[in-house]
Amino acid sequence: MTGKVHATLDSILGQALSAIDQTADSRQLEKTRVEFLGRHGSVTAQLKSIGSLPLGDRKAFGQAVNRARDQISGALVKKGEALAARKQLSDAQKDRIDVTLPGRRGFLGGVHPITRTVRRIERIFQRAGFDVTHGPEIEDDFHNFEALNIPKDHPARAMHDTFYISPGVVLRTHTSPVQIRYLECHQPPLQIIAPGRVYRCDSDVTHTPMFHQVEGLAVDTDISFADLKGTLTFFLQEFFEQQLPVRFRPSFFPFTEPSAEVDMGCVFCDGRGCRICQQTGWLEVLGCGMVHPQVFHQVGIDNEQFTGYAFGLGIERLAMLRYGVDDLRLFFENEVAFLSQFS
Ligand code: DAH
Repeated sequence: MTGKVHATLDSILGQALSAIDQTADSRQLEKTRVEFLGRHGSVTAQLKSIGSLPLGDRKAFGQAVNRARDQISGALVKKGEALAARKQLSDAQKDRIDVTLPGRRGFLGGVHPITRTVRRIERIFQRAGFDVTHGPEIEDDFHNFEALNIPKDHPARAMHDTFYISPGVVLRTHTSPVQIRYLECHQPPLQIIAPGRVYRCDSDVTHTPMFHQVEGLAVDTDISFADLKGTLTFFLQEFFEQQLPVRFRPSFFPFTEPSAEVDMGCVFCDGRGCRICQQTGWLEVLGCGMVHPQVFHQVGIDNEQFTGYAFGLGIERLAMLRYGVDDLRLFFENEVAFLSQFS
């Protein structure tokens, strides 16, 4: 009888130890504990069975059960510690950081190429003594046209493809109205440039409905065409960082007389002739002229006492030539791949 209960106890002990040995995680270990040592566990059942043994056998069997229980408890504790250590190690490995890897760079935005070009133009003219000023993008007919000697029904208006906001109110088609606004509240001598957005109802490969211009104006008692030539030649050579040839071709603008268009030697072929300059060796870059007496008259400046010159240039055009960009629309699509080349 006692031999049999001892054998059963041994077999339970063996099962428990091998179950503990094979346990792979702490949850399973707890289940094994309950299975053997819990209130309804098989070792507990052995303890409870003592009462059914003959009196003389009870003590020895009780001690055997207690030993088995202690052995199992000990194995559980040891296994629990081993599992915890293993988990700690694998957690550490999972979160391992390779401190020798190079860091990830933050994404740094840059200044838009058009803004960069505007700033560059401003810096060059500021060095030549020009102030930078601005005017409104929503203009009235008087400042955008009338005061610039472009009366109603003048053919020059047709060239401008104007966006009308309401009758007599337009999105400015050029920066020239800033000349008028500045002259309305400043007395010569003055030298200003006025960069900004302008709008024309026009859109194709070489035109966008919004683009940028810089207007220039200098008025003093003895300003001559030679001053205009000197200033613009200085500007273009500084802007392109080259001793470019510059030529002035007679042209027409209602607000200047005489008027000229300015060409510079092609920066792509050094004047030899290429696709960009259409084999001419020259690139047209801006319009200019001596301020028309009619413009002075509109703002109440004595054109016997004062003379002046004015010019207007397209910023996108200069940016394209400087950076070798062949599609105007790239400036407005704002693809990061394109823009990041300028940062
Ligand atoms: N406003 C002209 C345009 O948008 C450009 C221009 C030409 C401006 C000659 C001037 C100038 O000041 O003198 O086409």
